[in-house]
Amino acid sequence: MNADHAVNADHPVNADHPEANVDSGRVAGVLAALATHLDADRPTNVGFPSTFDIDYTALWPFFNRVLNNVGDPFQPSAFPANTKHLEQEVIAFLADLLRAPAGDRWGYVTTGGTEGNEYGLLLGRSLHPDAITYFSQAAHYSVPKLVDKLRMPAIAVRTATDGQIDLRDLRCALRTHRDKPAIVVATIGTTMTEAVDDVTAIRRVLNDVPIRHAHIHADAALSGLPLALVAPGCRPGFDLADGADSISVSGHKFVGSPFPCGIVITRESLRSRIGAPVDYIATADTTLGGSRSGHAPLLLWYAINTFGVEGLRARAQQSRHVAAYAHARLHQIGWRASRHPHAFTVVFDTPPDPVARTWRLATSNGQSHLICMPGVTPAQIDQFVADLMVSHRS
Ligand SMILES: Cc1ncc(COP(=O)(O)O)c(C=O)c1O
Repeated sequence: MNADHAVNADHPVNADHPEANVDSGRVAGVLAALATHLDADRPTNVGFPSTFDIDYTALWPFFNRVLNNVGDPFQPSAFPANTKHLEQEVIAFLADLLRAPAGDRWGYVTTGGTEGNEYGLLLGRSLHPDAITYFSQAAHYSVPKLVDKLRMPAIAVRTATDGQIDLRDLRCALRTHRDKPAIVVATIGTTMTEAVDDVTAIRRVLNDVPIRHAHIHADAALSGLPLALVAPGCRPGFDLADGADSISVSGHKFVGSPFPCGIVITRESLRSRIGAPVDYIATADTTLGGSRSGHAPLLLWYAINTFGVEGLRARAQQSRHVAAYAHARLHQIGWRASRHPHAFTVVFDTPPDPVARTWRLATSNGQSHLICMPGVTPAQIDQFVADLMVSHRS
C-alpha cells in the first residue's frame, strides 16, 4: 500500500505527540475484556495441563526489559541483555532431576515440547543418518508431524491396551529392519491418558534384537517433571540414567510458566552434532531457534527457586491426591473412569456436550479427560461431578 493511502483524513496523525494517536479507551476496554474472560474461564479449565496458581508478579518489572538468550546457553553472546546465567541454573536443576551424567550434560530452554522433540529427533538423525524412527500410535501429534517435516523414515508402533507402546510390536518392527539404526521416541505421559512408555524396557528390546546403533528420545512434555520427583525405584524408567539419550519436558505445564516454553536435556558430548560457531553473535548456534526468550528461563528459574525440590514434590503429590479423589468420585456415581499410577489425568466416557464444553474437556474417540494440575481443588471436582449428575438425569 502507498504510504499516503494509510493516512486517514478524518484522523490526521499527530507526529509531535504520538500518544495522542492512541485510542486509550479502546485499548483499556480490550484488555479489561480479556482479563474478565480469562478469570471467568479459570475455575472450569481442567481439561488441559495448565497450572494457574503460581504468582509471577515479582517478575513484572522484567517484562519492560528486553532479554534475548541467543545461541548456546553455556556461552556468552554479543548481546548482554540475557538470562543465560539463570538458564544454566535451570538446566543444572533439570539435569540433576533427570539424572544426566555428571560432567556430561547439556540442554537449553526451548519454545515448548514440540521444539524439544524436534531437537531430539534431529540429534538422533545427526548421530544415525540412516535410522528409522519408531513412535507409538499414542505419541503426540508433533512427532509424526516432525518426522514428515524432517523427511525421516518412520514406523508407527501399536499401543498396548494400557496405552503404552506395545513392546512386542516394537520388537517385531525392529527385527524386520535390524540392519538399520533406530531412533525410538518414548512418550512419558501420553497426551490423552498419561500412559508412560518404559525406557528401560525399550532399551532392553533394542539390545535383545539386537540393534547396533540407537537413540532414544523421551517426549516427557507432560509427565517428565512430576515423575522425576518420584524415587526412581518407584516409577517407570524414563530418564538419562534409565537409557534415554535426550529428554524434552514442558515448562508451561507442571512448572506453570504463563506462556509456552520447555527444556531439552541431553549429554554435552552430543551437543556439537547440531550447530556451529557464528561470529557476529559471538556464540555457538547450538539451539534450534536463533533469538531465544530470556524471559522463559527467568520464569522457570523463579518457579524452581520459589518451590525447591521438596515444594515441587509436595505439589505433585497433592495433584495425585486430587486425581485419585476425582477417580473415586466418578466411580461412586457409576461413571466409567480410569487413571494410570502416578497420573494427574483421569480418563472417562465423554459427558454430554454442555458439561464437556463448560469444563474444557479434551475429547478423543468418545473418551475425555480432566487433568488435576497443581491448583485444581477437590471443590472443583465436586462441582464437576455435580454437573455430570445433573446432565445425566436431564
Ligand atoms: C506428550 C506431549 N508431547 C509434546 C507436546 C507438545 O508440547 P507443546 O505444545 O509445548 O509444543 C505435548 C503437548 O501437550 C504433549 O502432551
